[in-house]
Amino acid sequence: MGDFREELERTRKEALEAIESAEDLVHLEEVRVRFLGRKGRLPLLLRTIRDLDPTERPSAGQLGNAIREELEAALGKRKLELEKGRLERPSVDVTLPGRPLPRGSLHVVTQTLEDILSIFVSMGYTVVSGPEVELDYYNFEALNIPKDHPARDMQDTFYISDQVVLRTHTSPVQVRTMEKGPPPVQIVCPGKVYRHDSDPTHSPMFHQVEGLVVDKGITFADLKGTLTVFVERIFGPSTPLRFRPSFFPFTEPSAEVDIQCVLCRGSGCALCGQSGWLEILGSGMVDPAVFGFVDYDPEVYSGFAFGLGVERIAMLRHGIEDIRLFYENDLRFLMQF
Ligand code: DAH
Repeated sequence: MGDFREELERTRKEALEAIESAEDLVHLEEVRVRFLGRKGRLPLLLRTIRDLDPTERPSAGQLGNAIREELEAALGKRKLELEKGRLERPSVDVTLPGRPLPRGSLHVVTQTLEDILSIFVSMGYTVVSGPEVELDYYNFEALNIPKDHPARDMQDTFYISDQVVLRTHTSPVQVRTMEKGPPPVQIVCPGKVYRHDSDPTHSPMFHQVEGLVVDKGITFADLKGTLTVFVERIFGPSTPLRFRPSFFPFTEPSAEVDIQCVLCRGSGCALCGQSGWLEILGSGMVDPAVFGFVDYDPEVYSGFAFGLGVERIAMLRHGIEDIRLFYENDLRFLMQF
């Protein structure tokens, strides 16, 4: 009987200590199973009562039951404490602000392209596209570019084969569009173009937007008015611009459009080569020779065309000095736009 009591008391003490030091509900349940479970220490001990002297069994049983009740009460109390603690100290702090998800944005070239197109769409133009891998015929021949023109040299153009090139400009879309049907035509053609060229202001791939308007009675005044509105909307309403006589094989007369230097405001600096002006696009009245390739009667119809570089416009608008920054995918650069 003495041994039994001693063992009972040891079990009680160890159980109470284990209950008190249980850190969480999972732990507490383990303690319960260890001491009070079907094969726990207390039930196993109580089973030895039948080995005691019959006169001692009733008091041993009473003592055993009293300890079971005491342990059950301690377990219940500890359980309440742990549950309460869990509510008071939630593992998730719901008052913390959320972590923002990094948000993407359109590439600055895409943004610029969309700005350019929306200006022309607002003036009634339709957006048209053409292939980047192009026939020599559309890229050069039908645009009245002679066989010995420097642009046709291997040094400037990527040739796929004798008759197939990576288009060097978006102008071939002019011819492809006119081939498809009679005037009126009023289109803008955005897309990638390719040239054997690479330095801080030239990239082997870049973007252009081509424009073409053909109808009865289109004059140089229409070209001037349209491009003036375009420049004012893309660079701001008081941007001075000028039309400078130039030459392109597919337009006659031809003009390049310059805007006043965005950096020095016309007084002359390194960006504008001290001239005070920056070239932003080529344009002109469609050469009758081009109409000849698509069976438009130049006695009835006339038109104007223009072509501009998207990266160049983005560089001037944002003060970007190196065209290669557009293609390096450096988020420190891209996230500024
Ligand atoms: N295609 C020319 C180039 O890439 C730009 C150009 C000039 C396009 C005059 C035109 C134009 O439509 O009329 O340099």
